[in-house]
Amino acid sequence: MSFPIERPRRLRRTALHRELAAEHRLHPGDFVAPLFVREDIAAPVPLTLLAGHQQETLESITSRVEALLTVGCTKVLLFGIPARKDAEGSEAWNDAGIVQEAVRRIRARFGHDVLIITDCCLDEFTSHGHCGILTETGDVDNDATILSYAKAAVSQAKAGADIIAPSGMMDGQVGAIREALDEHGFADVAILAYSAKYASCLYGPFREAADCAPQFGDRSGYQMQPANAIEALREARLDAEEGADMLMVKPALWYLDIIAALAHESELPVAAYLVSGECAMIHDGGARGLFSEERAMVEAHLALKRAGATILISYYAGAMCEYLATKGTAAHVPQAVH
Ligand code: PBG
Repeated sequence: MSFPIERPRRLRRTALHRELAAEHRLHPGDFVAPLFVREDIAAPVPLTLLAGHQQETLESITSRVEALLTVGCTKVLLFGIPARKDAEGSEAWNDAGIVQEAVRRIRARFGHDVLIITDCCLDEFTSHGHCGILTETGDVDNDATILSYAKAAVSQAKAGADIIAPSGMMDGQVGAIREALDEHGFADVAILAYSAKYASCLYGPFREAADCAPQFGDRSGYQMQPANAIEALREARLDAEEGADMLMVKPALWYLDIIAALAHESELPVAAYLVSGECAMIHDGGARGLFSEERAMVEAHLALKRAGATILISYYAGAMCEYLATKGTAAHVPQAVH
């Protein structure tokens, strides 16, 4: 041969070569586990659409957190389902509400061994299932809604939440929450902004889990349309200007371009949320023998890190931490042929 061949394959020869040459690694510290806590149930309710997950009671939620801590998963994102829903979603800012009570119990039991993030939205709390207060014509009233988010955020902070995660995609929500937190003495409580949350079909299993499917219409009047990317940069810029501490992209795998763009453009850490439909697809594909669920799990989360996310919110958080703890530090997709 007359030309010199470059040989990148030299670094792929053995598992240890590949480990040394890895550009990205998964670590238990990256992961956040979403959890559902429900008020009007006597025992945990398994989720038929999201295998291995359940709606927790106030008693079972602490055992769930304990199990996560055992495998090194130290961060949770809490969603609450109240017994009583109304048109305003007023249980969201009830200081004795389900989310607030769960935060207090988890904090009392585990102190600061666990980082508690609370979802701040109204869809789990409203009787109509929309993420805010409705106008007479059935639209979500942006400016009235963000005042309610601010009240809910203060109530969650009072209960002991470390980070508030507003997920409603209302304009000005981060600013309204930041202002209210500061006014009430919670300058240290951070905001994880759902900056680019798309109106996606992939939230199906979540809506069973959180009992929050809209009773009419859909969320495309407030969540982003899948056709848009530049708009995500605008959303992220506005969130940063309003005081967000971290940005989130959701869903994750069909939006890797958005994750990469925000990671490149913003100085804030970027979180990716591998949502319920994505995790369910990985699970179901594994169950049908299309691929190994374990390999798909690792490959999917590596893709999010490669794209630039440093915070990984996923229903596989516990399973990933267990995998990393039991199968060594290698963050590579396992090589065994399935
Ligand atoms: C709304 C909310 C949703 C999810 C998180 N927060 C559902 C929606 O927007 O309809 C979806 C998360 C998932 O699918 O895992 N508060």
